[in-house]
Amino acid sequence: MEKLLIHWDKKVVGTLFPHKRGRVQFQYSQKWLETQGLPISLSLPCQSEKHTPGISTAFFENLLPENNARSILAFNHRFDKKDTFAFLGHFGEDCAGALSILPDTQSPDFTPGQYEDITELLVEVLDRIKADPEKHQLFPEMKKARLSIAGAQDKLPVRIDKNRFYLPANSGSATTHIIKPASLYYPDIQKNEAFCMELALQAGIAVPCSQLLNIDGHEVFSIERYDRIQREKGLVIRIHQEDFCQALGIPANRKYQEKGGPGFIQCRQLTDEYLSLQGAEPRMNLIRVTLFNYLIGNHDAHGKNFSIIHGKDMIMAPFYDLLSTQVYPGLENKFAMSIGKTFRHDRIGERAFRLFAGDMKLRPRKFSDLMDTMIQTVSQCHEPLLSTHEEKYGASGIYQSLSVQIKKNIELLSRVRDAM
Ligand SMILES: Nc1ncnc2c1ncn2[C@@H]1O[C@H](COP(=O)(O)OP(=O)(O)O)[C@@H](O)[C@H]1O
Ligand SMILES: [Mg+2]
Repeated sequence: MEKLLIHWDKKVVGTLFPHKRGRVQFQYSQKWLETQGLPISLSLPCQSEKHTPGISTAFFENLLPENNARSILAFNHRFDKKDTFAFLGHFGEDCAGALSILPDTQSPDFTPGQYEDITELLVEVLDRIKADPEKHQLFPEMKKARLSIAGAQDKLPVRIDKNRFYLPANSGSATTHIIKPASLYYPDIQKNEAFCMELALQAGIAVPCSQLLNIDGHEVFSIERYDRIQREKGLVIRIHQEDFCQALGIPANRKYQEKGGPGFIQCRQLTDEYLSLQGAEPRMNLIRVTLFNYLIGNHDAHGKNFSIIHGKDMIMAPFYDLLSTQVYPGLENKFAMSIGKTFRHDRIGERAFRLFAGDMKLRPRKFSDLMDTMIQTVSQCHEPLLSTHEEKYGASGIYQSLSVQIKKNIELLSRVRDAM
């Protein structure tokens, strides 16, 4: 494998060259620049010259799984964990957004609707994970999967059709959903995410459709991909997207603000600069989701959990990965991005929120209104929704923990609001 070709909707957008130590260098194709002229990232503007290895690697490495899944995949395929070039060559055919990445020696097959039914295999793998969760993970067990998805949690992009699960068999066939199994380390995390995503919807936050599925006794969280559009007869169109870290040229290992990742000021600047067609909405939505995250205790909203959809115009993507991390006592009580200057949940008071409102360029009065609405909606909705989920998906300690935590946070935020 000497070069990788990057395709965007059947057209070659550019070439990826290997650089030292598994890093990569991206160059747009001349034809793309002349005929389309769209950038694949705000951090990789259209230009004839090769982009630098640093900025190229930051963007492409952000498409890959992190942590354990990354280590297992590298081990299974006998390349180095940091070898971004090798990873993309093996797993780049179906990525987040519109890009499909293949070795230049391989001619892509863009026939749509070519999928392999993996339903039985999926059940076997979920059985294996249940029996020995330390040894097995969903994505690495799918030996034929030539796709990639970012993130720390175990997950698998799939196509779901009439309760059957499929993996793409060629470049023309994209996945349409992401599924996440239960976890040994975070009890009932799938229930937690399903509940929080639905609560977010009720709180007026734009989120993709998600639900819990039961696959032969295994409960998994399933979410529709907002970067895919399903047309007739299995034709799936890829929509381009990138996360905020990619847009800002920040590698995944620096996604947390304390490690050099984006904070709210940078996020706000990004939305002001590129999403201004939507007016103040992206900025307001960032504030709403942050208040929501405070209430549910989601400390993990880093720069890879906010995304931009690239189309004719650029728009803010719906929100995803909303779940309570605070209900798991082992996890840090710090937000991925500081509110004002404060990271620790228990130290965020009126002053921190005032600074935050300023960082987001919102008048205190208006901020107070947003806070009020969020407190009211979550107060009204969370208990009935917990009961609905408990009825639908069965009793679990997680519902009790969520109830206690959300009530506590509502009380804390109400005190802040009263003091503002
Ligand atoms: N509904 C979705 N549609 C499209 N892409 C998504 C969706 N949900 C997540 N992603 C992409 O997958 C990545 C990992 O998903 P996420 O839910 O954040 O998992 P993790 O908990 O491992 O961080 C995200 O960073 C985003 O790029
Ligand atoms: Mg995430």
